Amino acid sequence: MLDEANKDLRNIFSKFATGVAAITFESSNGLNLGITINSYTSLSLDPPMVLWCLDKDSDLYEEITILDKYIINFLSEEQKDIANSLAQKNDHILNADQFTQTDKGLVIKDSIGWIACTKNTIIDSGDHSILTANVYDTKISDGYPLVFWGSSYRSLLR
Ligand SMILES: Cc1cc2nc3c(=O)[nH]c(=O)nc-3n(C[C@H](O)[C@H](O)[C@H](O)COP(=O)(O)O)c2cc1C
Repeated sequence: MLDEANKDLRNIFSKFATGVAAITFESSNGLNLGITINSYTSLSLDPPMVLWCLDKDSDLYEEITILDKYIINFLSEEQKDIANSLAQKNDHILNADQFTQTDKGLVIKDSIGWIACTKNTIIDSGDHSILTANVYDTKISDGYPLVFWGSSYRSLLR
């Protein structure tokens, strides 16, 4: 695709406001990792399913696509720092004070909620893959979401 058209496409994609989530999991060599995403979408109520999209060029692609289960944490407006740190290439390691280890997986502290899910399908699609997942547990907490719009983090109330 031409550069100008690519820029236009990025700009129009950025006009759709989303929340910000972090996928958290333990890697095959025992590291506690996370990746910031905004491609999360609820998919199905019965059965309960969600989806998100993973860049095929991500260094974490192999690790994530072999996972049987992981947590999707919905970040609060106070968690811009976590969103930034988990979006850094070569630095997806969670700090010990940022998460709690549970029997479901790694849960980010003080998020506005999380979904525990298991792998369903991985659909090859353009430069990303679509990952659908089965929801087997959820938790809702107080707080307002971190919003991503116009290539910047925002708060809902400002
Ligand atoms: C707000 C925001 C949303 C993002 N959403 C996605 C996403 O949905 N899927 C994805 O694969 N990467 C997404 N990224 C990029 C990753 O967080 C991260 O920057 C990228 O994976 C770094 O490269 P690496 O995976 O090779 O380390 C997003 C980044 C930001 C800042």
